[in-house]
Amino acid sequence: MAVTRTFSIIKPDATRRNLTGGVTKMLEDAGLRVIASKRIQMTKEQAEGFYAVHRERPFFNDLVSFMISGPVVVQVLEGEDAVLTNRTVMGATNPENADEGTIRKTYAESIEANSVHGSDSDENAAIEIDYFFKPEEIVG
Ligand code: CMP
Repeated sequence: MAVTRTFSIIKPDATRRNLTGGVTKMLEDAGLRVIASKRIQMTKEQAEGFYAVHRERPFFNDLVSFMISGPVVVQVLEGEDAVLTNRTVMGATNPENADEGTIRKTYAESIEANSVHGSDSDENAAIEIDYFFKPEEIVG
């Protein structure tokens, strides 16, 4: 296994409930290091661009509205096989299907308000990191 990077968002349902630290602790306990982090209010255009791959899905407009409903924390995570490590600790997209001990099982409210986003591949991680961070903002 190699040390790689992934991209994470702590979503508005989690920031609203003051869970930034709780979520981050679970990421760190899973072996991931936060090598960049910033709390932002996403614009509608930013959220639409980020989720462009889902544009034709019936939940797209609700998803964008939710993601701009409050602040989010965008992060770059580094660790052994970071994409898979992060997806494992996040748990299934729908918290009803998430394993015990995962972030979504612990904190998520619904499939939409599911507390965290994580990249699904190394290729998308690089694209998503580049979407929110300048190289000099990432300090490994
Ligand atoms: P995320 O990993 O951020 O990527 C797309 C998001 O769409 C997903 O997490 C979910 O929170 C959200 N979403 C909302 N409704 C659905 C749905 N019916 N199926 C899949 N994803 C959904």
